Amino acid sequence: MGPQLLTAFLVIYSMEPMKQQSTLQPFRTLAAPASSRSTLPWCWRSQRVLLTGAGGFIGCHLAEHLVRAGAHVKALVHYNSRNDWGLLECLPDDIKACLDVLSGDLTDITFVGQAVRDCQIVFHLGALIAIPYSYRSPRHFMDTNVMGTLNVMQACLDAQVSKVIHTSTSETYGSARYTPMDEAHPLHGQSPYAASKIAADKVAESFYCSFELPVATIRPFNVFGPRQSARAVIPTIISQALAEETIRLGSLNPIRDFTFVEDTVNAFLKVAESSQSIGEVFNIGTGHGITIGEVTEMILDLCGRQKNIVVEEERRRPTHSEVNALLCNNVKAKAILGWEPQYSLTQGLQRTIDYIAQHPYRYKTGTFNI
Ligand SMILES: NC(=O)c1ccc[n+]([C@@H]2O[C@H](COP(=O)([O-])OP(=O)(O)OC[C@H]3O[C@@H](n4cnc5c(N)ncnc54)[C@H](O)[C@@H]3O)[C@@H](O)[C@H]2O)c1
Repeated sequence: MGPQLLTAFLVIYSMEPMKQQSTLQPFRTLAAPASSRSTLPWCWRSQRVLLTGAGGFIGCHLAEHLVRAGAHVKALVHYNSRNDWGLLECLPDDIKACLDVLSGDLTDITFVGQAVRDCQIVFHLGALIAIPYSYRSPRHFMDTNVMGTLNVMQACLDAQVSKVIHTSTSETYGSARYTPMDEAHPLHGQSPYAASKIAADKVAESFYCSFELPVATIRPFNVFGPRQSARAVIPTIISQALAEETIRLGSLNPIRDFTFVEDTVNAFLKVAESSQSIGEVFNIGTGHGITIGEVTEMILDLCGRQKNIVVEEERRRPTHSEVNALLCNNVKAKAILGWEPQYSLTQGLQRTIDYIAQHPYRYKTGTFNI
């Protein structure tokens, strides 16, 4: 065992009471099938990676890709008394067996410092993200998203990590002042969630400018795909299309740029791999906009259903908080990262419909009528 692995062993061993399910063997990787080994990106095989928000929607997909690419993955999940790893529980057993799962809280600097200490690359995705909840608990959003990001950046600086990938959101732009929206579009905090993410982005930026922390920021537009919960609009529509007589939604007019999660994960990997991404922000979206009403019609067509769509006042955002259009200019990501979306909206929706149809118990609607 080398000195770094020994350190990792000691750190993880000392945290054992908090991390009940982790084994004492600190880092394991998935043995790639011989045929695929030569095609794996060389850099991931030796990298020690920390992923915050690993139990979330995007995080669980990213964790799976990193393990398959041969990285040593430490997955940070939000502590709960059930020792529940969130959506990491959905991963195949051989992937889960390779993860080092740490449960704790981003707002705890001691915990974050210990988690980061032996890692080279840190993907920071952990956040509170539900906009309606941000109207009710704005302080909770600031604590988690701003102070949590400050803790991650400080811990990364102290540990001298070689790269931090910070996750922003297109919601930081607010309603489009022009489309498509490039990275120079003004930021506008139209919800406490957006405000907390703008502040978090600025914390990350300040650590790059002030301390030369090697931070790259990825700014995804709306992400969707298998495993996403029904607090997001596409799973809400699909689960209602499969189970309910009527589709109940907020405003149907906002335009969104929906990106399939596999494409978003690919962008995370490319940002991490690129030496030109440090100090930069990258929009990640398809460049195609669609209204919520239109995507609902598409989903109903793909499900082979005809249902009434009803707008419910309580589902609408307050007037000035509604973001009317988000449409991505992805020229920078294409030029610098060589990133291109691979999935059409139809392909992504079909994959998501198939997943939700097979996992009705994860969605709090009535019984699916498949
Ligand atoms: N889903 C999207 O459409 C989208 C779009 C743009 C940006 N993003 C960003 O991507 C990231 C991941 O989003 P997601 O869709 O996977 O969200 P998610 O809610 O599924 O995942 C976020 C994870 O962070 C964890 N978390 C929350 N508070 C925590 C705390 N105090 N300590 C530790 N962990 C905590 C949650 O438990 C959750 O597992 C977020 O930063 C979000 O702002 C998401």
